[in-house]
Amino acid sequence: MKKYAQENKVPIIKDEGLGFLLDIINNEEPKTILEIGSAILYSASMMALNSKANIVTIERDPEMIEIAKKNLKELGLEKRITIIEGDALEVFDQVKNYKFDLIFIDAAKAQYEKFFNLYTPLLTEDGAVVSDNLIFHGLVGTDTSTYSRSLRGLIRKITSYREFLANNTEFQTTFYDDIGDGMGVSYKR
Ligand SMILES: C[S@@+](CC[C@H](N)C(=O)[O-])C[C@H]1O[C@@H](n2cnc3c(N)ncnc32)[C@H](O)[C@@H]1O
Repeated sequence: MKKYAQENKVPIIKDEGLGFLLDIINNEEPKTILEIGSAILYSASMMALNSKANIVTIERDPEMIEIAKKNLKELGLEKRITIIEGDALEVFDQVKNYKFDLIFIDAAKAQYEKFFNLYTPLLTEDGAVVSDNLIFHGLVGTDTSTYSRSLRGLIRKITSYREFLANNTEFQTTFYDDIGDGMGVSYKR
């Protein structure tokens, strides 16, 4: 899967970020995990293979969904991983009856705050939210004046999400900027 991702430029979690995520899973032993952004199912399958958790993962790109489904079948993980097809901001009804011990946000960077607000009501009391790409290739916090308009906009959104987390009165977030592409781990206060 990793080779396919590299060859086809599918962005998947970095090794270091994955190791960090799996450490959290190892410590917390979540029974249920929600992932926003499945891509080809790499991180979801790694989480499933390294835990006993059941995973619900949301993906909106039809091409990704097709590959994710194929990988799901090949790995024989159909009983452990459920793929929800559609935009995470539109499929809430399909998951609203679940409770999650861990939420892993790894989809459109500009929408992280919306994902967080929409899905954290489904988090169990001691559950954690892990957000990936919070330094976005090391670009967050740099001088963006020479970047394209869209890249500047994206970095502004990630910066604003970081501020949202840092100032959140309901969740306490620790930022791990030196791990992978920058990870944030949030727990209810
Ligand atoms: C970085 S990739 C996910 C990588 C995957 N978590 C892994 O590490 O193997 C982000 C994925 O999120 C999907 N995505 C982006 N915005 C989304 C949204 N609003 N709803 C559902 N999927 C979304 C994209 O299509 C893309 O496949």
